[in-house]
Amino acid sequence: MESIDKIKAHYNFTSGDAENLKQLKSVMEKHKGDFPKEFYNHIKHFEGTSKFLTSEEIITRHQDGLKEWFMNLFSGEYNTQYLRDIERIGYAHVKIKLPAHYVNAAMHFVRLYCLKILEKEFCTDMNECKYLAKSVDKIIDINLDVITSSFIEEEIKTFFLSERVESYLIQFANRFAYGLNLILVMGLVIMGIMVMGLFVYDVTHIFTGDIEKGLLGTLGSLLMMWVVIELVDTEVKHLKGGKFAIRVFISVALVAVIRKLLVSTLKAEAVESHLSLILIAAIAVLGIIYWLIAKTEKAE
Ligand code: HEM
Repeated sequence: MESIDKIKAHYNFTSGDAENLKQLKSVMEKHKGDFPKEFYNHIKHFEGTSKFLTSEEIITRHQDGLKEWFMNLFSGEYNTQYLRDIERIGYAHVKIKLPAHYVNAAMHFVRLYCLKILEKEFCTDMNECKYLAKSVDKIIDINLDVITSSFIEEEIKTFFLSERVESYLIQFANRFAYGLNLILVMGLVIMGIMVMGLFVYDVTHIFTGDIEKGLLGTLGSLLMMWVVIELVDTEVKHLKGGKFAIRVFISVALVAVIRKLLVSTLKAEAVESHLSLILIAAIAVLGIIYWLIAKTEKAE
């Protein structure tokens, strides 16, 4: 499945759209109770739905789920968690082997239902109304895309062990990866605190008379702090659904070598001057790689 950022970009879903949908939340809240009833009025005409909605308990659970899903359309927050929630809905329907056609037809109803509310309660200014309607269209299309993708993925899936074992395995691997990512963020925060300690330690050299060592050391620890900020920033973006920036790894290596060079310049021995040359060559190579990656990312 694509990342949420990519999906949003493909539908040209901007922060303006998110704002628009959030703006509609209070109006839609008024129709929250009515929505599942109208939804059921629509789907009851589909022959065969009773095969899936077999008990009052299932219907009540479904209507509660529908209500929550409907309000989430207007939450204004469309992140990785939101994508996971829609995927889960898609798989819930795949699991009961509901034909994808039913979901498409039901989504068509949802679109018309939302637009009707918009027309009735929001459309004093035609341009504003069109803009809001476009945002509603986009979020419904995104939902339809993700839900129907679950059906397609299911169709092309071939199983090595068994469907149940594999889906548990994938779910477990997904959660495990997410847990590891959270540990990584915590580790980076601890790193940040330690680099702050190093910065204070380097600054003390200035006051104890070793100004050169103090200044170069401070410069090195500031560079490290910048890298930690970049790493935390990248990881947080990654957790929110963005793609991982390899460039940051190169910048970590680059800063580590620059820091080593700064420290080695303090020692004027012959062996160290050879080391300095190697370090300068390493910085040049890493710099070129960094530049090439940054250029490719920009082009993308
Ligand atoms: C716009 C289309 C639809 C949306 C947004 C939707 C939403 C949902 C949600 C939120 C759930 C709960 C998922 C979970 O377990 O987390 C669900 C489950 C289910 N849906 Fe739908 N649904 C749609 C169309 C339909 C249609 C047309 C049927 C027709 C029969 C249907 C039948 C079911 C059933 C039987 C379940 C499982 C209920 C249970 O046992 O808990 N859905 N759906």
